[in-house]
Amino acid sequence: MNWEGLTCVVTGASAGIGRATAEAFAKKGATVIAVARREDRLADLVDRLGGAPHSYFVCDLSDKEQIRAMAEVIAGRTPKVDILVNNAGIPGPGLVTECSFDDVEAFFRVNLLAPIWCIQALFPLFAHAVRDGRTPAIVNVASMAGRIPIPASAPYTASKYAMVGFSESLWGEMHDKGIQVMAVCPGFVDTEGFPMDVLLKDPLLRWTVMKPPRVADAICRGIESGSTEVRVQGWWSIFYYLTIVMGPLRRRVSQKVWHAKGSGKIQI
Ligand SMILES: NC(=O)c1ccc[n+]([C@@H]2O[C@H](COP(=O)([O-])OP(=O)(O)OC[C@H]3O[C@@H](n4cnc5c(N)ncnc54)[C@H](OP(=O)(O)O)[C@@H]3O)[C@@H](O)[C@H]2O)c1
Repeated sequence: MNWEGLTCVVTGASAGIGRATAEAFAKKGATVIAVARREDRLADLVDRLGGAPHSYFVCDLSDKEQIRAMAEVIAGRTPKVDILVNNAGIPGPGLVTECSFDDVEAFFRVNLLAPIWCIQALFPLFAHAVRDGRTPAIVNVASMAGRIPIPASAPYTASKYAMVGFSESLWGEMHDKGIQVMAVCPGFVDTEGFPMDVLLKDPLLRWTVMKPPRVADAICRGIESGSTEVRVQGWWSIFYYLTIVMGPLRRRVSQKVWHAKGSGKIQI
């Protein structure tokens, strides 16, 4: 796949997986438009990528008007978007019984509604890429929490299950339009928003934790091979199928494992 001349919008590019993905795309020769709220971080990223043609747009993705404005500005910069990585995301608001209505709404705006709004807002620019004879790709960063429910993290689990289901259903809608849709389901990645100190301190479990560039590489490979779902670490798939075979028993097993590790410490 030739990445030269591709225009890639990456949300949540000011940190973690988004930043690593933006760097990986730029290294391959694509042009990056980095989106997030912290301007200093975005400016630093674009600087490190070598400046123009890379650029950034400051946007609070929980606000649909800002997403509309972002799409307008991007349309002014480029006639087409080849890749959108819906990556921006935040940890869940905690236990359902302990968070407010507003916490839940604010959370779902970022983790679920924003990716859908971004696709809607940028769709005309994907359509231009298709007319150019390219296959644009929509990459939705979900999580293994979208395949295996995490105890005591119901809103986060719900948002990621929704992203996985949304991506699969959207695949059908977009396939006929010549657009690829891929869900990405990483396991544990040590980042600002999702620190993995508890696992990193455990000599038996620290091997499970990845760094963001590993996810970025998996995203690139997934796009290149036209994958529909990327799980990053192969062993998660075995674990996932095991949880299906366990059926209802998995609730009790996962609760016991969680309590054994100290409930709340790795809550997301
Ligand atoms: N880390 C993990 O273990 C893990 C595992 C599976 C899936 N994921 C998913 O991977 C994605 C990236 O997470 P990460 O681990 O890389 O976290 P991170 O390092 O905390 O990065 C989160 C990014 O999202 C942006 N963001 C948050 N709220 C935003 C808003 N309202 N508007 C615009 N941008 C916003 C942040 O930028 P600003 O603060 O500058 O706006 C930041 O760039 C998330 O969807 C997460 O659920 C993470």
